[in-house]
Amino acid sequence: MEKLRVGVLGATGAAGLEFVRALCGHPWFELEELYASGRSAGRPFGEACTLDLSGIPEDVKERRVRGMGEVGKGLDLICSALPSEVAREVEGECARHTPVISTTSAFRYEDDVPILITEVNADHHRLLGLQRRRGWEGWIAPGPNCTTVGLAVSLCPIYRELGIKRVIMSSYQSVSGGGYALIQKWRAQRRLELPKPLEGVREPIRDPEVVLEGNVIGYIEKEEAKVKRETLKILGDYADGRIEPARFRIDCSCVRVPTLRGHFETVFVETERACSEEDVKAIYEEFNERCKREFGDLPSSPEKAIVVLDRSPQPIFDVGLGGGMSTVVGRIERIEAYDSGIKYQVLSDNTQRGAAKGMVQVAEYLHKVGFL
Ligand SMILES: NC(=O)c1ccc[n+]([C@@H]2O[C@H](COP(=O)([O-])OP(=O)(O)OC[C@H]3O[C@@H](n4cnc5c(N)ncnc54)[C@H](OP(=O)(O)O)[C@@H]3O)[C@@H](O)[C@H]2O)c1
Repeated sequence: MEKLRVGVLGATGAAGLEFVRALCGHPWFELEELYASGRSAGRPFGEACTLDLSGIPEDVKERRVRGMGEVGKGLDLICSALPSEVAREVEGECARHTPVISTTSAFRYEDDVPILITEVNADHHRLLGLQRRRGWEGWIAPGPNCTTVGLAVSLCPIYRELGIKRVIMSSYQSVSGGGYALIQKWRAQRRLELPKPLEGVREPIRDPEVVLEGNVIGYIEKEEAKVKRETLKILGDYADGRIEPARFRIDCSCVRVPTLRGHFETVFVETERACSEEDVKAIYEEFNERCKREFGDLPSSPEKAIVVLDRSPQPIFDVGLGGGMSTVVGRIERIEAYDSGIKYQVLSDNTQRGAAKGMVQVAEYLHKVGFL
């Protein structure tokens, strides 16, 4: 089989690097071109990207990064990991001639654009055909925000089997979710003496001096609205060329904590039908079996879509399970606040399942069903 030629936009960033990693040696896709901003254009990839390049082959590190003005038509697929403001224009331009998979929010909320997680709503890909009405030869297929993914995957089997009335989620999100500048800032702070308690602390998200190490940042811009809207869209039904969002009440509180990789969440679910911890574990097992049957042949699929632990998941130990593609659920317990329901903790790798590798899996699925 001839491999598809792939280019990565934003290749030097936290999500872009993981696209590069997922595509190196991929059996179906050939990594052809790397693109980033003017800061990186013209420089070797291994020099322009300041993140951990372990596992990246030498010939890829030596490749010259191209600027956005050089994105051309000779590719079969474009993977976008740009900041959303930049992605809006660039992805739209690319989709005129080439299919785009994307980690960005630029097009996520449009009616003819699905938000895809292979194991949860692969059927929503049928919306992509409607994008031809925009005059595009390609299409744009985004994935969810990295915080939405673990929640949506872990809720999906519960929603389908038990029905959901209400969901409350609190997140504990790693620094890598904020991109390479935040990772660098945190690394620098770990070598410094921590600041003393301040007078007149500023709203952290707007504060260039934001203190990450030894701290908790209780506000992540736009995150909570994204998680709520995306979860309902992803768990919604596709029919007659549109998605009817799921109808349950959902709220969340999103918080940044000083971990490097993996978003941890506590989830409280009120279900339509009563359930025990054992019921939920059995439902997850059935979900895993179905995922294996339907998606087990995709190169990026994990052995188990959901790994159930009898303890609390820990980012530092559990984030790489299933090559970073397994959603790790622990402490499934009965909930006392509702008549019927369950509470649990979930860990999802924001850079793999929640970004690049999850979207490479989507591309594999679209290739398998002839959409690519
Ligand atoms: N980090 C995650 O875990 C994660 C997860 C899911 C989704 N996402 C989404 O993925 C996208 C990228 O996030 P990230 O965390 O990887 O960000 P990042 O680490 O800051 O990387 C941004 C990338 O975009 C490039 N870029 C920045 N401004 C540009 C411009 N004006 N023109 C062209 N290229 C430009 C950067 O190039 P230079 O290196 O040259 O500056 C870099 O390659 C965002 O939309 C984010 O919301 C991220």
